[in-house]
Amino acid sequence: MATNPEITTTKCLVNGNWVTAASGRTFPVTDPATDEHLADVPDMGEGETRDAITAAHDAFPEWRSTPAPARAGLVANLANLMRRDEDRLAALMTAEQGKPLAESLGEIRYAASFFEEAARQGPSLTGDIVPASNPDQRILALRQPVGVCAIITPWNFPAAMITRKLGPALACGCTAIIKPAHATPLSALAIARLAIEAGLPPGTVNVLTADAETFSNTVLADERVRKLSFTGSTKVGQILMRGAADNLLRLSLELGGHAPFIVFDDADLDAAIEGAVACKFRNAGQTCICANRFFVQSGIYEAFMDRLARKIEALKIGRGSDDGVTIGPLINDDAVHKVEDHVADALDKGGKVLVGGERVKLEGLADRFYAPTLLEGMTPDMKLFREETFGPVAPVMKFDDEDEAVALANDSEFGLAAYFYTNNASRLTRVAEALDYGIVGANDGGPSAAQAPFGGVKHSGFGREGGSYAMHEYTDIKYVSVKIKPTD
Ligand code: SIN
Repeated sequence: MATNPEITTTKCLVNGNWVTAASGRTFPVTDPATDEHLADVPDMGEGETRDAITAAHDAFPEWRSTPAPARAGLVANLANLMRRDEDRLAALMTAEQGKPLAESLGEIRYAASFFEEAARQGPSLTGDIVPASNPDQRILALRQPVGVCAIITPWNFPAAMITRKLGPALACGCTAIIKPAHATPLSALAIARLAIEAGLPPGTVNVLTADAETFSNTVLADERVRKLSFTGSTKVGQILMRGAADNLLRLSLELGGHAPFIVFDDADLDAAIEGAVACKFRNAGQTCICANRFFVQSGIYEAFMDRLARKIEALKIGRGSDDGVTIGPLINDDAVHKVEDHVADALDKGGKVLVGGERVKLEGLADRFYAPTLLEGMTPDMKLFREETFGPVAPVMKFDDEDEAVALANDSEFGLAAYFYTNNASRLTRVAEALDYGIVGANDGGPSAAQAPFGGVKHSGFGREGGSYAMHEYTDIKYVSVKIKPTD
């Protein structure tokens, strides 16, 4: 389907009310596969952003004092509603984002799992009673919600990047104002609608479709906001971090990645090929943790390249809502230009395209489809080696020994995810420890899980999302020192 996805609202949610921009301004949402106009959503300004902060701030005292199991129950309701409506939400996501329907369905389930995990974690959140050396003192370390959280999410995972932040924020007792990406606000508004149906009190969840600069400047200037969680580019993360300095805003930043994918001679070839395809071509390569640079050891090189080429040729490119499609469009024209630029630069510097390597024109669809591509002869001076391509291109370089592979893999300013395949247990341990990344997939091309600590190092940011780790991002520790008398 997805030709006419069911759009349940195009208004924003502030303090439990569905509102439009005071200016009356809107911006259009279109299907990247067809350029079809899907909806117009409000272009909320500074005043409306402040209204949302006020709503979240006013809702906070009651929400934080609601017992954790009751809060968790409402978060679990929201997960159930997402699962109930998974087909509708998936169709909506494919329409606004372009990814294949099966991937959208996978993302809705993945998104719901973050609410479920947060609902499990919330009531288990504890503080500490720390043994004191002074017999008259008791040391309590309480975990308390930070307060109003601003959440800014990207277009590549329009649902899961919201729930991964919102779930733990709510479960910890925080309230939230969310700004989804310009390109994909409809999934966010659909989740907002479910939040109301789930019974979340007015003001706990507010969703604003807005220009990124207006929203973030307003949030950064308002001292009632105590936490900002952002997933997006490193460049924007750096701007937000500078802006957060004045109010000493707590930050979680999940920024760009540039994952290496290493295949050693002793790898299970079937597993490595399966992992490589899943990891590289998920969401047409528009994933922060997707493999961007392949390093393949000389002994397995020919076999790996041959098998990978055949797998890539079998991928089906097209509109995400069509049967069997595995590669959808890129999100916009700039994204296509970037991929073209990276491939052209690689060819100039001696790279060779083995599969794909060009745009694909599809009858009746937008000119935004890039063929899944296999390219060999990658070298460190290529843009593909240095920058995140965010497209369906697998550039490969041959290597000879383990130290060389690890050095090449670590030769990046980014540090989000890295992958490697080996059947040697000692090498598995050595390489996992040596890779300078926040997430390492050891014989695993798909490490994402709601229970796991997700996040990067270096220019990929800081903070961890998922599992119990996320709960620490949305709570402060309050130290209470109790002086007691030995006797009364
Ligand atoms: C991302 O692209 O950052 C999200 C990927 C994931 O959670 O698996």
